[in-house]
Amino acid sequence: MDIKTPVIILNVKAYRESSGAKDLELAKICKAVMDETGVSIVYCPQQVDLAWVAREVAIPCLAQHADPYSPGSRTGSSVLESIKDAGAVGTLVNHSEHRMLVSDISEIIQKAQTLDLFTVVCTNNTPVSKAVAELMPSSIAIEPPDLIGSGIPVSKADPDIVSNSVNAVKNINEDIVVLCGAGISTGEDVKAAIELGAEGVLLASGVVKARDPKRVLEDLATGI
Ligand code: G3P
Repeated sequence: MDIKTPVIILNVKAYRESSGAKDLELAKICKAVMDETGVSIVYCPQQVDLAWVAREVAIPCLAQHADPYSPGSRTGSSVLESIKDAGAVGTLVNHSEHRMLVSDISEIIQKAQTLDLFTVVCTNNTPVSKAVAELMPSSIAIEPPDLIGSGIPVSKADPDIVSNSVNAVKNINEDIVVLCGAGISTGEDVKAAIELGAEGVLLASGVVKARDPKRVLEDLATGI
């Protein structure tokens, strides 16, 4: 499974502003902006809403996390087969708010390949981006944890971490899509990220906590 790049990936996390009917509403807004602008947008609903949102809204959905287990007696787990059955096109992996062991990251990537699921592995610095690239994920999203939720865009606060990660990953495999995230909230932030070599952005609070999410998304799309 591929995702059209450049891309805006909205991760709604577990905010009150993105729960239940509000999750569905945000997905519909993303779909409307995608149709209006032609810009590729991918949606990461709350895990409990994944199947419902993926069924109700014609927008590519990613799970926010996947567990490295086979189907079976794994109460409360999100196994890749069920994520696929729910209608997702892939999953985030190792988000800084849901860190994983390298062995588990590798397990998820390999299994996702057999299920034709897209993997976006989140990393916190360039050495980790380089190490994860060796595992051949579909995509790597560099996100310095200290900037997450700060409203200070990584593309401006720490441009080197973006360009260095792009170069390190592409030196290992040109096909790995490199994204960046943390503090992204305007079209200008997106444009700066792409000028640094990123093929898209991963964001959350700039849209989820906005008074007018649609207007923010339309502005973000101008940066693509
Ligand atoms: O998954 C993206 C997220 O960690 C970035 O958060 O709120 O800085 O856009 P935010």
